[in-house]
Amino acid sequence: PLLSEGKKRASLGEVERIFLPSTTVNNWDQIQKFRFKDDDLLICTYPKSGTTWIQEIVDMIEQKGDVEKCRRSVIHHRHPFIEWARSPQPTGVDQANAMPSPRILKTHLPTQLLPPSFWESTCKIIYVARNPKDCMVSYYHFQRMSQTLPEPGTWEDYFENFMNGKVSCGSWYDHVKGWWKAKDKRQILFLFYEDIKENPRREIQKVMKFMGKNLDETILDIIEQETSFEKMKENPMTNRSTVPKTIMDQSISPFMRKGIVGDWKNHFTVAQNEKFNNDYKKKMEGTSLTFRMEI
Ligand code: A3P
Repeated sequence: PLLSEGKKRASLGEVERIFLPSTTVNNWDQIQKFRFKDDDLLICTYPKSGTTWIQEIVDMIEQKGDVEKCRRSVIHHRHPFIEWARSPQPTGVDQANAMPSPRILKTHLPTQLLPPSFWESTCKIIYVARNPKDCMVSYYHFQRMSQTLPEPGTWEDYFENFMNGKVSCGSWYDHVKGWWKAKDKRQILFLFYEDIKENPRREIQKVMKFMGKNLDETILDIIEQETSFEKMKENPMTNRSTVPKTIMDQSISPFMRKGIVGDWKNHFTVAQNEKFNNDYKKKMEGTSLTFRMEI
């Protein structure tokens, strides 16, 4: 059921045993040749971990809280998405190459699939991780509505596929562990969705410092307000409402769906939760990385 596709649905291919959209796999040569620059800032996440949220926070900091400047284009065009490849749009690599420095870029790739030039550069990275239960639920609903990925199948099937890494971008467990480890070698600001939700001001300030900026409290007030779930859900530049229905059918599930911690409790059965916890313990054994499934 994983690779089955409806008529309009995109299919997945594989690179080094990691599932990725076929269009990305078909463009793999160009992606691998991409040249990072030392003054790039790379926003990196496993899908559905708060990518759009951190992108808006970073852009608002970059634009010093200027709301109008942040509305210059939709969020998914402001920061080139390195592995994006869907004609007729220019690829993520083409978009990044056309962008003047200092660039802010986005990727969902696990560490081992990054273009080799990444490891030669000293670019900064902001990684946002989200607890796997909420991430799974969010991903499931996203796959229901987005034509850019296969149909998710039933929730029961999806639950298994997610745990087994049989989703686009591969295993959540390997992704977060890989990037957590990369922290030893690289300048990475490692953030958690739950922390941003709990105390957005504190986390926005961390991002600001990491970006080497200093903004006064009134600007931070604006950034905090403008990047709230409620505001971003209303904002056509962040809520994907400009994406045609043939690509994202938000009548099935909105892109800005719930934006909370703990929605998994409305989806996981008691048995699934137990199975998940046992499996999680095994897969996360030996890492110092921990997650909060509720706040
Ligand atoms: P839910 O589906 O749980 O609502 P990504 O941008 O990586 O695709 O992640 C999407 C998830 O982040 C969705 O989660 C979405 O609602 C949530 N999100 C986006 N903006 C947010 C915000 N400002 N505050 C909280 N959650 C946000």
